[in-house]
Amino acid sequence: MSRMTHSPEMYSARTQAGGRIPLATDASLRSSGLLASDPESAATLALKPRSAGMSLKPQHYRQILSDGVDVDFFEVHAENYFGAGGTPHRYLTAIRERHALSIHGIGLSIGGAGPLNPDHLAQLRMLVDRYEPQLVSEHLAWCESGGAYFNDLLPVALTSEALDIVCQHVEQTQDALGRAILIENPSNYLAFEQSDIPETEFLAEMARRTGCGLLLDINNVVVSAHNLQRSAQDYLDAFSMDAVGEIHLAGHSNDERNGLTLKIDDHGSAPSAEVWDLYRAFVHKAGARPTLIEWDQDVPPLEVLAQEVATARTILGAPSSQPNSPRETNHVPAR
Ligand SMILES: [Fe+2]
Repeated sequence: MSRMTHSPEMYSARTQAGGRIPLATDASLRSSGLLASDPESAATLALKPRSAGMSLKPQHYRQILSDGVDVDFFEVHAENYFGAGGTPHRYLTAIRERHALSIHGIGLSIGGAGPLNPDHLAQLRMLVDRYEPQLVSEHLAWCESGGAYFNDLLPVALTSEALDIVCQHVEQTQDALGRAILIENPSNYLAFEQSDIPETEFLAEMARRTGCGLLLDINNVVVSAHNLQRSAQDYLDAFSMDAVGEIHLAGHSNDERNGLTLKIDDHGSAPSAEVWDLYRAFVHKAGARPTLIEWDQDVPPLEVLAQEVATARTILGAPSSQPNSPRETNHVPAR
């Protein structure tokens, strides 16, 4: 697949609304480029709703380019490509030439109380400009305070004050990137006493105010529901489904201690049966959305990821596509 340039339509919602996009519905997601305006058209910047992709991992770079893989898009963590050159960029450039791409930030600290790091935001902008991904996403979380970085996605107390700050950060990011982004629901291990806005309402209001879309991670829903002793189905029923521009499906582990089980969102296994069941029900109710098999630890062979992608495609009602032709895959960048 060749690289595509931004279309004027992508920005129309932002410019017509004076820099703000109203309530993020299917229509506004499409006008902001987060969902394809023509679900059957490949000639669009946005991913088709019936797209299924996988995390792009360095151990698969060469096999993807030499053998091809039946996948609609890859997703990378932005910060892994903040260097200006080197092997990761050589491979990502080659893979981007034939596949759609989603860039998933994990270090912008959208949920932090302090200002966004301008250098981090500038690097994200350069990466987005360089690869022109179909999707850009970040988390409802924080990881930086006073210049100190924590290697984790830390929780946000869901208050009106936090909502104001998060919205300001989302708007700042979207202004810097010149495009709408998606924000992912977090995995929760505790609930703050101070939180007085339900998470689904917080996310919906953030999307309404800023015009961003939502990235629904169904494994995060399962992990949070178990750990906080709530209902995953109730959460999904309350989720602003029209704002969903991408779905993540991942695996978790169970940490057994003192007769209690804590679910850990470690992305180290296949999505659980419960995640698949909730996904199937969500797609049936809300319709297809670009779906990622997210696998970051104990990464399996490429064929295992491809099989999970095929399962997602079946649920999305998407036909399998042909792997890349040998003509397209016979050059592999030097290490
Ligand atoms: Fe996720």
